[in-house]
Amino acid sequence: MSAITLESSLATFSRRFDVSAKLTERGKEVVPGGYSRNSFNFGPHAIYVEGGDGAYISTVEGHRLLDLNNNFTVNVLGHNHPAVQRTLRQSIESGVSFGNPVALETELAQLLVDRIPSIERVQFSCSASESCMSAVRVARAFTGRTKIAKFEGGYHGFTDPLQVSWHPDHDGDCGPDDAPKAIPDSGGIPAEDIANVVVLTQNDREGTERILRAHASEIACLILELESASGGLVTLEQGYVESLRELTSELGIVLIFDETVTLRAGYQGMQGDYGVAPDLTVMGKIIGGGFPLGAVGGSTEIMSVLESGLVSISGTHHGHKIALAAGIATMRELTQGAFDRLNGTAKRVMDELNDWSNQRGSSFAVYGKGISHLAYGFMREPGLSIRTHRDYWRNFDGTGTQICSLELANRGFFPVARGDFSLSLPMTDDDITAFIETTKEIVSGIEG
Ligand SMILES: Cc1ncc(COP(=O)(O)O)c(C=O)c1O
Repeated sequence: MSAITLESSLATFSRRFDVSAKLTERGKEVVPGGYSRNSFNFGPHAIYVEGGDGAYISTVEGHRLLDLNNNFTVNVLGHNHPAVQRTLRQSIESGVSFGNPVALETELAQLLVDRIPSIERVQFSCSASESCMSAVRVARAFTGRTKIAKFEGGYHGFTDPLQVSWHPDHDGDCGPDDAPKAIPDSGGIPAEDIANVVVLTQNDREGTERILRAHASEIACLILELESASGGLVTLEQGYVESLRELTSELGIVLIFDETVTLRAGYQGMQGDYGVAPDLTVMGKIIGGGFPLGAVGGSTEIMSVLESGLVSISGTHHGHKIALAAGIATMRELTQGAFDRLNGTAKRVMDELNDWSNQRGSSFAVYGKGISHLAYGFMREPGLSIRTHRDYWRNFDGTGTQICSLELANRGFFPVARGDFSLSLPMTDDDITAFIETTKEIVSGIEG
């Protein structure tokens, strides 16, 4: 019998995070569900935070947790980085909101253009959801076509046309493996939007080509994550991505890389690792330095639809001054050396935990491409590879992973509850050692 069970983890969690439970209940009196993001849920309720400093957060109960959630990958510099704080203080003193542009916008756009060869022009918004939508509109106007191709398991924000087949109901009729159905992830999404989505299976070369060719005259864009963030961390294979580039160019389909999370991979985002240039890139998370900022970037030719007046996109807070200031300060800290350190630490976590797990024949694994955003979890059997979203949902042991997440929180670590985590620069080698050793203890306790 295992020493750690769902019941024992939940009982400890409820004791340790009792104030959070009360705040959740209080929140429910005025906010549906208690808070405006249901991704805050961590088991029975969210963990309320008092503040953060460096690599740690403090909860309302006074517990100090190593922040492996980092606001779902945003806080690559951890909390209260001195350079960002300094910039913010200065920026706030000269006013925060204007009906005028600020030169910071050009500065951040230039920084991104200098780093990422596929980007010559950048347009900002307040979130990656908005910028994904902007990218789709640009692609539709540029091609004169309407349909959107995306992967099952791919997340591109919560807008109507894109929140389709992210986490389809696995027990329902999702269609054959090589021809998934378009299924809305929420009520309230119009049927016309769903009908405009063509769903593909990751790493399935034949199926992808067949479907894209069949709908080519109607498809405006293919939007994808090179490594799906919230759909189970499925990494696209090199040859497959190259084939997508060739095929979309041949068929006149705009290829959009959603690098909202994967921009963390390195100086040129994850597209730099693949050496494949998309037509448009969506960015978010780290580029706002902890403030709401999204962006879409691409070639002068394709982005010209925003200049010619063919496409109109506008938002009161788009390119917000404080978000730009924080974003510039953050991105400047992200030198090649900083990315090397983050990715080196990610490799250490993966190698140490997976070697240990393989030696004991455990079905626990850390997986991902090896950047500073990784996933962990129990699989139905040891050594399974996850090449598609269906591989993930068929093989993933949700209960084992849930126990692991609860137990990590109980012991001083705060990952994303569904089983993923990201690293920040202020994490020390000792922090990482503690995370690795605690994870081993938890996995041993669960497996008995
Ligand atoms: C790949 C990807 N695209 C888009 C989004 C939407 O970003 P936002 O929450 O900033 O709207 C997310 C959010 O997690 C994401 O992971």
